[in-house]
Amino acid sequence: MKLIIEKDYKGISKRAAKEILKIINNKENSILGLATGSSPIGLYEELIKLNKENVVDFSKVTTINLDEYIGISSNHPQSYRYFMNNTLFNHINIDKKNTYVPNGNAEDMKVECIGYDKNIRDLGGIDVQLLGIGGNGHIAFNEPDEELILGTHVTGLTESTIKANSRFFDSVDEVPKNAITMGLGEIMKAKSIILIASGEGKAEAIAKLFSGKITTKSPATLLAVHNDVTVIIDEQAASLLNK
Ligand code: F6R
Repeated sequence: MKLIIEKDYKGISKRAAKEILKIINNKENSILGLATGSSPIGLYEELIKLNKENVVDFSKVTTINLDEYIGISSNHPQSYRYFMNNTLFNHINIDKKNTYVPNGNAEDMKVECIGYDKNIRDLGGIDVQLLGIGGNGHIAFNEPDEELILGTHVTGLTESTIKANSRFFDSVDEVPKNAITMGLGEIMKAKSIILIASGEGKAEAIAKLFSGKITTKSPATLLAVHNDVTVIIDEQAASLLNK
């Protein structure tokens, strides 16, 4: 894993944008795996700026998001589809037909999960998967557990994730308890992976990521066996490394 330590969140956003730019400029019909949450907001702002300056063209790019809540509509301001439209897609020259977010309101979630993975395969696989990381080491909504699921699946959120995500809702009771998420198998099949993390709350998970061990109790540690991972973090998230 390649580790890049930037001074702060702005540094992470700029650096990650540069890495994604390289991929799109190398292959105009790139398949980007995208994430939601606080971590990528600055990066998305950078990409919007670069698009407006004509430095990057999204017209042939396809995006595939990691996850979506179950039980809130795609128009809900906290749904990940809404977040992606609002934070990125509405501001760049991407064709929304080429943006995929799992449907958390599908009639048959099993069919939705199988179809989501098939779509990734049919598109030829993900060129670069962007990831944030939970304080407990989760990636997408693959939470610490005895076993991790390879394919896209429905999962319950842990108490710690519900609590962490309650900052976006009026109260903790409004946070959905279930989500649909890409599994570790699909994530690990991405040709390259960029993980970004900022702040002290991520320091423990980052220290585990570089501990030289893998464990399903901290799902991000599995990334250590992928051969093209770039981890871009700030000094605070790096504060427990080598300790
Ligand atoms: C979001 C996702 C989550 C977040 C993680 C970190 O699509 O899959 O795994 O990346 O919870 O969230 P933030 O960036 O809000 O700290």
